[in-house]
Amino acid sequence: MAAASALALAIPLAVGNADAATTHAAAAPASTTYTAAEVLAGVQQNSTDATKVNAKPHINTMTRAQNVNVYQVASGVYAYTSGMAIDTDGSDPDPDPDHQGETTWEDSNGNALGAHHVPFYVLGDDCWDRKSPCPHFFYEEHGMSGRQFALMFYNGKVIGSIFGDTQTANDQTTSDNDSRELGEASVKAAQLLGIPSSGTTGGVDNGVTVVMFSGPSWVVNGSNSNLNNNAQAMVQNALNTLGASMEGTTPPTTPPAGGTLFEAETGTLSSGGTFDSNHEGFTGSAFANPANTTGSYVDIPVTASAAGTRTLTIRYSDGTDAARPATISVNGTSRGTLNFPVTDDWDTWSDVSVSVPLKAGANTVRITGTTSNGPANIDSVSVSQ
Ligand code: GCU
Repeated sequence: MAAASALALAIPLAVGNADAATTHAAAAPASTTYTAAEVLAGVQQNSTDATKVNAKPHINTMTRAQNVNVYQVASGVYAYTSGMAIDTDGSDPDPDPDHQGETTWEDSNGNALGAHHVPFYVLGDDCWDRKSPCPHFFYEEHGMSGRQFALMFYNGKVIGSIFGDTQTANDQTTSDNDSRELGEASVKAAQLLGIPSSGTTGGVDNGVTVVMFSGPSWVVNGSNSNLNNNAQAMVQNALNTLGASMEGTTPPTTPPAGGTLFEAETGTLSSGGTFDSNHEGFTGSAFANPANTTGSYVDIPVTASAAGTRTLTIRYSDGTDAARPATISVNGTSRGTLNFPVTDDWDTWSDVSVSVPLKAGANTVRITGTTSNGPANIDSVSVSQ
């Protein structure tokens, strides 16, 4: 939890020397400071059918599921949520058997990027369908080129990242060398996000949101030694710019009458849990899949404008043949155990409710499994009077 406030990285832009990050004429002093949690919520709410860029779904590199879409969440800003496979390519030596000494894009000195030093994301290198517009998100059609800045969100964290490499060769069964596939980033990106970073055993299946800022003013300059710092120095400016441009444009997801919706993926999970998108019908960009063990939980941040007793409506799915009882606690105090009966399958969602006291401002709702199966998959918590 605590993620929202801790993430307001008040780092000034690094400018004024040859290697410094690019300044943004277009992104002149945004007066409002936006937190990572606020911007991610706006991105999720702007990721709708109406803003979808791709006509055919992308392949999630980690899971191979064809369920990744790219959305235009603001003018020139494109977002997708997927897993993350680990790219070890570039100038840093690495024992990974897939390691290649080159990356598609280079630093400002013409050196291959180093996957252990530079947080970079990977996109396909051509339009496999040979159509224009490409039925998938193909970067060349969207004003993007090498070292294009992106915000990457995962599990309450945000980092700056750059477009550094394209997919590995077509002769590898693990990868399609084209824009059909999405969801790979460098060792350094994984380390900064708290994702296992080994090229052979690392990565995460779902829950990583990449928000790419197109256009030349968002290309990051620098060398292998300072590209990471230069990218991180742009994070707060990017949050403010995107936050400001999404302000007032955001179609709200539909909470129950009089209610306010809080997505599970804005929260945190106990060890072994993941934020997934491999089933249908969830809202936002993912749902919580807490670990299958007694005591595993998801913490969901919930805000209230005033203190008082409220109804929490928890949207969940349990596609097994056994209920998944879980204890609901608010700010560390147990408010009882709910049964979470089975649903038809993992694509079907149902609601359970409980009445709890909330305080004004930030609260944490914890859902803790009481059986060895852990809690059900959790999509969201709605708060109503
Ligand atoms: C399946 C399902 C998951 C679910 C898990 C469970 O693997 O795909 O979404 O969380 O079962 O039993 O908890």
